[in-house]
Amino acid sequence: KQDEDQLIIDAGQKQFGATSCSSCGMVYSADNPEDNFQHSQFHQRFLDAIKYVGWKKERIVAEFWDGKIILVMPDDPKYAIKKAEEVRQIADNELGFQQVALCRPAQAKTYLFINSEKMVVGCLVAERIQQAFRVLVKPDQEKDMTKDDFMERHRAWCCATVPEQALCGISRIWVFGLARRKGIATRMLDTVRSTFMYGSHLTKEEIAFSDPTPDGKLFATKYSNT
Ligand code: ACO
Ligand code: ZN
Repeated sequence: KQDEDQLIIDAGQKQFGATSCSSCGMVYSADNPEDNFQHSQFHQRFLDAIKYVGWKKERIVAEFWDGKIILVMPDDPKYAIKKAEEVRQIADNELGFQQVALCRPAQAKTYLFINSEKMVVGCLVAERIQQAFRVLVKPDQEKDMTKDDFMERHRAWCCATVPEQALCGISRIWVFGLARRKGIATRMLDTVRSTFMYGSHLTKEEIAFSDPTPDGKLFATKYSNT
């Protein structure tokens, strides 16, 4: 029993010592040397990757009071492609994607949200697709049958077996942790819909999310219904 108490005390101290860096967002334990080291390694690399110095021929596709969205196309100059890739790797890292390659890199369009501090705080990769399988939400009556919340969230989703026509696939969407719930993902998607295909405005149904994470599903559900 003493061991148990000790464990609880240790866990409490760990919680107590946890800090969230206000610039890179990493949560670490400041009184743990290894954690400190890992943070210092990550911190600068991360801030460098999301730093946006700007370039002469940037393609601004939307402007807001708190930032702008630029579009990077596959044939753009190397420096633009390089920045898009740097940010995409940050996103992939967080999403736990192993392979860095895109399905069809020659057709992928990358949208970057730049905030007023010249940081890339949002990244969206959109690709031309032909069809998609709609994610279905089970009806509410069925959901009531289980009380376990975790199971709930996993069971509530399944995919249709009949493919539907979709025109634009979102293969990555990422917003910097400290900039979430400010409508950045929403604004990036709205911008994709009006700029992805020249001369036509895509409906929400014509956009498909590939393999969404729990965050991605919550966001996509909200986005599709509004
Ligand atoms: N939990 C619950 N609801 C959410 C969440 C969430 N984590 N995120 C968004 N929503 C809903 C809310 O209703 C929100 O409106 P509200 O803030 O007024 O309540 C609405 O969606 C709009 O949200 P935005 O502010 O536009 O979304 P945000 O800019 O925060 O970005 C995103 C959402 C991209 C999912 C972000 O949380 C993120 O980057 N997460 C980590 C990476 C990730 O999981 N990306 C999705 C991968 S799937 C894929 O790439 C295809
Ligand atoms: Zn930091």
